[in-house]
Amino acid sequence: MFISLEGVDGSGKSTQAKLLVEALGPETVAIREPGGTDAAERIRELLADPAVELEPLAELMLFCAARADLTERVIRPALEDGRDVVSDRFSDSSVAYQGAARGLGVGEVIGLCDTATDGLWPDLTLLLKVDPELGLGRAQSEDRFEAEGLELQRAVAVAYEEIAIIASDRVVVLDATGTVDEVHARVMDAVRSRTQ
Ligand code: TYD
Repeated sequence: MFISLEGVDGSGKSTQAKLLVEALGPETVAIREPGGTDAAERIRELLADPAVELEPLAELMLFCAARADLTERVIRPALEDGRDVVSDRFSDSSVAYQGAARGLGVGEVIGLCDTATDGLWPDLTLLLKVDPELGLGRAQSEDRFEAEGLELQRAVAVAYEEIAIIASDRVVVLDATGTVDEVHARVMDAVRSRTQ
């Protein structure tokens, strides 16, 4: 099964992705986006650098380039091998950040992501929901997106709500407030109810 975790910056996705990978066992493939291949990690550095100015469309294309490489080289082979794949962010991040928050258009970005991944979308997407203000307070680093502050995060949070409606067949919204263990229990419930 291919599972992605999504949420605003500081929603605790990365911690929960790690715990989910441990719970699913050693055969599970853990990835984070952007990244996961040599080329995608280089693209990640570029995208995270607040000193680099980028047009929104160029930014989107870079995310999609990284995703295309990761999908073809890592995700598809793993799924074909019968392994579970857990991704910290996937195409929904582009839809929320670039499509909605940056204004490139939700439909357009869905189309481009479809091309980049040759139509691969997660079987299950866990949307970790926290107040964007709380998330920004929790985020440890200051990448180019966090540096843009609360307004961007709020727009992203609204976009995720819309994605949860558009893709209700695969997106499960989880309350991400509370302790790490409490949220992990919610994550496991959602995964189990999908696999049983
Ligand atoms: P990430 O490293 O997951 O940050 P965090 O761990 O703080 O959530 O992602 C880096 C940033 O890239 C994050 O602010 C969200 C943004 N992003 C996009 O704007 N579009 C995308 O397609 C992806 C994958 C990430």
